[in-house]
Parts: sequence; structure tokens; C-alpha cells
Amino acid sequence: MLQTRVNSGLDGVIVADSVMSEVDGEAGRLIVRGRSIEELAATTGFEGVAALLWEEFAPPGQGGGDEGAVREGLASARVRAFAEVPKLFAATKGLTPVEGLRVGLGMLADTELMPHHYLVCGALPVFLAALLRASEGKSALAPDPMLTTAQDLLRMIRGRRADDVFEHALDTYLATIADHGFNASTFTARVVASTHAGLISSVLAGLCALKGPLHGGAPGPVLDMFDEIGSLNCAGAWFDDAFSKGTTLMGFGHRIYKVRDPRADVLKNIVATLPQTAGRLAFAVEVEKTAIAALRRHKPGRRLDTNVEYYTALLLEALEVPRSAFTALLAVGRAAGWCAHVFEQKKGGRIIRPQSNYIGTRPEA
Ligand code: ACO
Repeated sequence: MLQTRVNSGLDGVIVADSVMSEVDGEAGRLIVRGRSIEELAATTGFEGVAALLWEEFAPPGQGGGDEGAVREGLASARVRAFAEVPKLFAATKGLTPVEGLRVGLGMLADTELMPHHYLVCGALPVFLAALLRASEGKSALAPDPMLTTAQDLLRMIRGRRADDVFEHALDTYLATIADHGFNASTFTARVVASTHAGLISSVLAGLCALKGPLHGGAPGPVLDMFDEIGSLNCAGAWFDDAFSKGTTLMGFGHRIYKVRDPRADVLKNIVATLPQTAGRLAFAVEVEKTAIAALRRHKPGRRLDTNVEYYTALLLEALEVPRSAFTALLAVGRAAGWCAHVFEQKKGGRIIRPQSNYIGTRPEA
């Protein structure tokens, strides 16, 4: 007898054991490789989190558990990726930054000798910075292998080193969002990895899933929402109008979190450390309160709260990243998690192959 019960969003379906991260949606807690996200964000930068995620999974000597090796590996990979920038420019005219990254990853060869997790995690920041500078008519800046990913990325975008506080903010952001359970993009990467298609193809697939506004595409539209609201005394009416039109509020709601996403406060606290953000932060906090009140009124019983993308928007704005590049920047950090999941899938997983329930016509008997 064929089983025909459909679970269209795979809610609650568990398809793998994983040591990477646990998202506790009832308690609003996130654990990454045994450490709370609050502790990890306060103590460990992007390279450290990548080393932690890759521990026991990366091939021997390729950065698993060794932050120094990861830093060196990513620095060499950035230098290697810079050679691809002229080809990238030729193929990305008119594309958004995240579409540009899609092309850039697609150009990397499966035959490349450099470890592929270094290659993709090193290439993404180089490609992103080059694309952003090209959009302003500026030439690409070569990477500096003495720097960390966050330091070098800001430098390659701005043309000069940023102040410590900004570099630290970006590093904490990349570390905070590096992994998050079986989200849509990670799951996509694991499906592709389960066919043994290879790490670059798996990460590219993850990037494509990340791009959608319901996943990694949300933070740019959060700022669009702020623009539309304009002033605080218009916020209540704006939300009532939005619900009357069936608008989905960007930066709110989550499949797993039924309470506030813990990453929202980690990022909110970083924004507060940056100069000249007090006014914008106060505005965002008030808009958030009004949005939550409106969600309670218009969607009673749905348990919708603030997700990571709300304060991501504020943080990346404070770092002067153009909003069109927010999703691409998320990809720079999340790529470490995608690589870790590809390793884990390859190590113990089978091909992921669910079923559909056929409701079409049948041949006559
Ligand atoms: N605004 C308004 N209503 C919402 C929102 C929202 N942001 N999120 C969910 N709802 C409503 C739905 O309309 C639905 O209402 P209904 O029962 O009256 O039809 C109910 O809450 C349940 O929502 P679902 O769509 O079933 O929730 P699901 O788990 O499928 O979707 C998602 C989760 C995609 C994140 C959704 O909350 C959403 O679209 N949020 C806005 C986009 C966003 O911020 N995405 C970033 C998520 S974090 C990340 O991926 C990095």
C-alpha cells in the first residue's frame, strides 16, 4: 500500500544525525558544535568557527580544528581566487551581487588542486568585493593574505582598512551565521552532496537556495520596509495596511523558532557597539515592537517573532554594505557551514531521495 500523507514543507522531518548545530525553537537557543551562539559570538571569529565546524571532517591537515591553518588556507585561497576576477567581470554584467557569486562559484573547476572548502570560502569574499567595486566603476583590490576574512573583505570593498570596531563587527557577524541546522540552503547543499556531485557543486546549490526572500534574501527588504514606514508614528498604520494586503513581514517568522531567534540579540548587541547607530537602532527597536504587536493582533496563535534577518539588516547597513549585497554577504559566512555539512554528508550519508504522491491521471486498466 502506497503511503500518501504529504508534508509539503517537511516540517519536523528528521533526515540525518548531525554534530554541527542544534536549533531549539521552543527555548530560542542555538548550539554550534557544543557551544552556545552567545558564547561563540563573544569569543570566536569566523576562521575559528570554520575550524570548529570542520573538525573531524576536513581531510587531514586541511584546517579541521586548527584556526591557524584555516586562516592560512583561506588567505591563500583568496589570492588564488583573485586570478579569476577578470573572467568574473566578463560574465556578470547586469547581475546582482548574489547572482555574481553564483557565476563565480560556477567558474571554479572540480579539478582544482587547492582543497575545495578553502577555495569556495576564499573565493566568495574576493568575488563579492570585486563585484561591489566594479558596480561603482572602481578596479578590484588584490587580497592581503596577512588579514582575516573579515578584515580583508572590508578592506577590499572600501579600498582601505576599516576601524577595528567595524572589522570585529563583521567577523562576529560571519561567525554568528556560519551554521544553523538543516535550513533550506544547507539541506539543498546536502542533497547535492548526497549524490557525490562534489563540494563546489553542493555549495553552489546551497547559494541558489539562500537567494530567495523567504531565506537569505530577507534583510534588504527589511530596510525597504523601514523606508516605507518613514516615521515611527506611521508604523502602526503601516503594519495594519500591510496585513490587509496579505504582506509577509520580512525579518519575522521562522519555521523552527517559535520564540525570538537568539541570533537577533547577538547582532543587535553588535550594532550597539558601532558609532552613530543609536538613532537607527532606537527606530528599529520601536518598529520591531509595533510589528510584534501587529503580528499578535493579525496572526493570533501563530507564535511569530523576530528572526536573524531583522538585525542583520541594521548591522550590514551600519557597515556600509549596499543592501543589494546583503544576501551575498550572508553566503560568505554560511559557506563554512555548507562545507561542514557536505563533509558530514559524504562521511555517513546515503543519497537523499524522498517521494511524491502521484495525483495525475493513470492509464486505463
Ligand atoms: N509575516 C506575516 N505573516 C507571517 C510571517 C511573516 N513574516 N511568517 C509567517 N506568517 C504567517 C503565515 O502567513 C501563516 O499564516 P496563516 O496560518 O494565516 O496562513 C502562519 O504565519 C504560518 O506561516 P508559514 O508560512 O506556514 O511558516 P513557514 O514555517 O512555512 O515559513 C518563513 C517560515 C518562510 C521564514 C516565514 O515566516 C516568512 O516568510 N518570513 C519572512 C521572511 C524572512 O524573514 N525570512 C528569513 C528567515 S531566517 C533565514 O532564513 C536566514
